[in-house]
Amino acid sequence: MAIKYVPESFRIKVVEPLRILSREEREIKIREAKYNLFNLRSEDCYIDLLTDSGTNAMSTEQWAGIMRGDESYAGASSYFKLIDAVKDIFGYDYVQPVHQGRAAEKVLFPLLISKGKYAISNMFFDTTRAHVELAGGRCIDCVVKDAKNPSKRAPFKGNMDVGKMEKIISEKGKENIAIVVMTITNNSAGGQPVSMKNMREVSAVCNKYGIPLIIDAARYAENAYFVKRDEEEYKNRAIGDIVKEMFSYADMFTMSAKKDAIVNMGGIIGVKDGDSPIILKIKANCISYEGFYTYGGLSGRDMEALAIGLYEGLDEDYLKYRIGQMEYLASKLDDAGIAYQAPVGGHGVFIDARAMYPQIPYFEFPAQVLAVELYKEAGIRTCEIGSYMLGNDPDTGEQLQAEFEFTRLAIPRRVYTQAHLDFIVDALIAIKERAHEIKHGYRITWEPPILRHFQASLEPVQE
Ligand code: F0G
Repeated sequence: MAIKYVPESFRIKVVEPLRILSREEREIKIREAKYNLFNLRSEDCYIDLLTDSGTNAMSTEQWAGIMRGDESYAGASSYFKLIDAVKDIFGYDYVQPVHQGRAAEKVLFPLLISKGKYAISNMFFDTTRAHVELAGGRCIDCVVKDAKNPSKRAPFKGNMDVGKMEKIISEKGKENIAIVVMTITNNSAGGQPVSMKNMREVSAVCNKYGIPLIIDAARYAENAYFVKRDEEEYKNRAIGDIVKEMFSYADMFTMSAKKDAIVNMGGIIGVKDGDSPIILKIKANCISYEGFYTYGGLSGRDMEALAIGLYEGLDEDYLKYRIGQMEYLASKLDDAGIAYQAPVGGHGVFIDARAMYPQIPYFEFPAQVLAVELYKEAGIRTCEIGSYMLGNDPDTGEQLQAEFEFTRLAIPRRVYTQAHLDFIVDALIAIKERAHEIKHGYRITWEPPILRHFQASLEPVQE
């Protein structure tokens, strides 16, 4: 059944022209890019769904904030504005600005993780996984079973499997578990939310064993919207209250502010307990890697826009429109019989490429096939979240098989219109009609040792 498009909670003031290349030109561009979408120039993409990170449109208030930015090296007023906003929204005592999410991970994780220790998560995002491994740790994903079945419409498919998590803690020994990370929403599982109930349960287990609980907070507001929509006891609660309660269960958070805080650059580390000895170490690492602790790699103007965006991301009319875009796309895909991680998550639609190309094995990267087809078909740039992104086992070097083979259509915030979404669906329908004609996927001809999908070169596998 077709879902109605929720109208924008804003109007457009500034526009950026787009151009679309011919199919022949696109085929040349993608070959020159070695079939890696990260190697394309943005001007050669018509609709850019590579990521929802840092690609958001700021508001008039945020642009006004850019002009108010205080660029003092130490103690800038924009820093204090950011601190006040974070304390108010999340209720944490210590706030460390950093330049983006992975900087938060780089500053914090070596303080918590040492060689041979484990980190457990509902699911690690790729940079988060990389920073655990760079600190000498090993990652264990514990997402609920439902998440692994894209066609099963269950609520809160981003949840932690708490039973499995406890089993791992007792098998490995609690002293060997350095941290537990709750990624909200769960990006790698399809932008799927985590319920408040699940967060409470995970927190209780962490408290029982004395393991620090960290929120990977990139999409804190979208997660809260789902809690309100789908968790009965939160139906009448304000989004802001839900966020505050969610964060009360953790000890620290790392945030890529380039998502729900609707800015183009920024990150935050939060520590709940202002007396925690880790704060001095965070400051020291930040000064070494990011900059003095009152700016942490951000300009004053960035902190100003971020302080405003953190609130705008919580606006319920905006969130209704935002999640509405995903629901609209998903309902069109239902009509067309195109499988995706269902129900649709918060920041994009994750197409089930294994269902689209059952003939292509994981080591030929079916979701990369779909990503390349979308570019060739319509100039749409997307991103593979599957075996290609997962990479090789850090110990054996063997290609790992991912739980899913998703092509992610990440939707930037406040950027694309209903007509753009219709155009995307039409492209997918055309691709699905020809899907059986594609016999092979891609092989990697060059790859770097870590986070390979950003840089690797690929070529089509021939008969
Ligand atoms: N955690 C999550 C859940 C993320 O989705 C990301 C980034 C990060 C951490 C790292 O943050 O990019 O600011 O350094 N995700 C982007 C994406 C890149 O496309 O999903 P960052």
